[in-house]
Amino acid sequence: MLTKEENDMLTQVGPGTPAGELLRRYWLPVGVANELTPENPTQTVRILGETLVLFRDKSGTVGLLNDRCQHRGASLTYGRVETRGIACPYHGWLYDTKGDCLETPAEPCESKFHLTVKQKAYPVQKLVGLYWAYLGPLPAPLMTNFDIWFRQDGHRKLFIQPPLDCNWFQPMENSMDPAHLQILHQNTANRGRSIQDTTRGLTDDVQEFDFYETSYGLMKRRTYKNGMIDEHPVIFPNILRQGNVGQIRVPMDDTHTKVYFVRFFPTANGEIVEHDDPPAEYIKPYKNPPDALHPFTKFRMDAVQAQDHMAWETQGPICDRTQERLTSSDRGVILLREVMFREIKKVQQGLDPMGVIRDPANNPFIDTHLMESIEQSSNNRAPRAVNE
Ligand code: FES
Ligand SMILES: [Fe+2]
Repeated sequence: MLTKEENDMLTQVGPGTPAGELLRRYWLPVGVANELTPENPTQTVRILGETLVLFRDKSGTVGLLNDRCQHRGASLTYGRVETRGIACPYHGWLYDTKGDCLETPAEPCESKFHLTVKQKAYPVQKLVGLYWAYLGPLPAPLMTNFDIWFRQDGHRKLFIQPPLDCNWFQPMENSMDPAHLQILHQNTANRGRSIQDTTRGLTDDVQEFDFYETSYGLMKRRTYKNGMIDEHPVIFPNILRQGNVGQIRVPMDDTHTKVYFVRFFPTANGEIVEHDDPPAEYIKPYKNPPDALHPFTKFRMDAVQAQDHMAWETQGPICDRTQERLTSSDRGVILLREVMFREIKKVQQGLDPMGVIRDPANNPFIDTHLMESIEQSSNNRAPRAVNE
């Protein structure tokens, strides 16, 4: 159980909040690259409690600016992209991707007023078919050298999950909560086996759960009675690797989370793929009505991700951790919270938190031992799992 202050510390993501400042030390996805087209060159990004505009100008440069125009506040999402940047739809103030104001059309020609105007701008880079932004203090660190992002011997595909209407830390705690699989997912992760006892589900398959820290985050491990071992790394602070999928949870604000899945498909013979331009599949909502909250919506319960979204959202928009009864199987959840508090403290002391790398010569490749093929699944590792 946490105090209200501790719960706030884990869950508030806006500027100046403890977790918000921690999360601002990492590159985070802000959009699907293929969605920015000449016909639709702008989109609103809601991230860490900020409302931003992502755009590609006519020179092909991509920028991420505060969405609210410095002049009198109109949204730049409705602006016109031009060769030099984006022009506010209201009075045409023109901003480049660095946030410099280049024009204020209604001012006298000789006016230098625009030189005094600076729009908040964040660095953007493209990786695995996504645009990623860094919202923290400069200089920006390096992108995590994670196998799903950087292995070249395969293709990738994006799966854009439906909106998750709850706080980001609920799916993260779930990533360190192995016991739920054998209960919540007993009818979706049972691989055709009939369940003898629905009260215990698949629980008695498991010998033990272990949790430990790694250089890049945390690991949860299930050891099954048949000797099979199932390990799922958490790339601190907001990514779960499950199967060959990197599940990225991006806090939009305290009560909404954007979830991107990046799945890696290795080539059969290790062949290098030169141009991997991942297509995106958009997953339909798991609840109906899709924009309502529990108890005013109903989740489907016939798919693993739907079951998880149900569990996370029904914990509340922000789970009240002053009201809970943790037990021995929650020690992964407790470890994650301890690591968060410790890393938050580092940021408050002016230090880099876990996983922030700045030296290209010291950016170790994070090899999480992706499965090479379906066949490999019998090799003392969990089958290509549909669970986490
Ligand atoms: S509100 Fe943007 S130019 Fe006036
Ligand atoms: Fe789950």
